[in-house]
Amino acid sequence: MLKNIFPTKIEVIENFLNKEEIDDLYSHVKKLSYIDHSVINGDGKSTFTPHDSNCLEGNKLEKKINNEIEKYCISIGIEKSTIDLCWANIQKKDSFLKMHHHHYSPVAGALYVKTDDKSSRLCFQNPNTYSLITNYVADPNPNVICYNVNPGDLFLFPGWLHHGSNYELNKSEERIVLSFNCK
Ligand SMILES: [Fe+2]
Repeated sequence: MLKNIFPTKIEVIENFLNKEEIDDLYSHVKKLSYIDHSVINGDGKSTFTPHDSNCLEGNKLEKKINNEIEKYCISIGIEKSTIDLCWANIQKKDSFLKMHHHHYSPVAGALYVKTDDKSSRLCFQNPNTYSLITNYVADPNPNVICYNVNPGDLFLFPGWLHHGSNYELNKSEERIVLSFNCK
């Protein structure tokens, strides 16, 4: 019998936010202060600072996201976790998000605020490094799995899971995502 052992569980919730919530969040993140961020290659900025980023402070969406994080924690069998650090990234045309991970966060997430059909996707890399030497004949190669991203979509995943755009260039004029780490 074929068994699927050591699976990596991520949560993908399309349309987590409605149109009004997306518009409110867009207005909110556009008022924040942006600086360079090492994970963005090319024209892009972030509100990220390593210890005190909380781009959702006082925003009613924080509770809504934390409720979903709690459900995710229960479904994958880990202790309850809530948003600790939160930041926003704005990428312009021809930038890309380097593959990276969120260190020791039990749960990390991405909530898309502004994208279009030219936006780079969100890709996850197989965390089993030994699998990279496997000569897969399956197409697409299962070592990288990419998702299209639309405004209002929420992704939750283990913080140790490498993700980024897999060197795919963003071709939209403005791609905005809110990212967070939990503790
Ligand atoms: Fe990330």
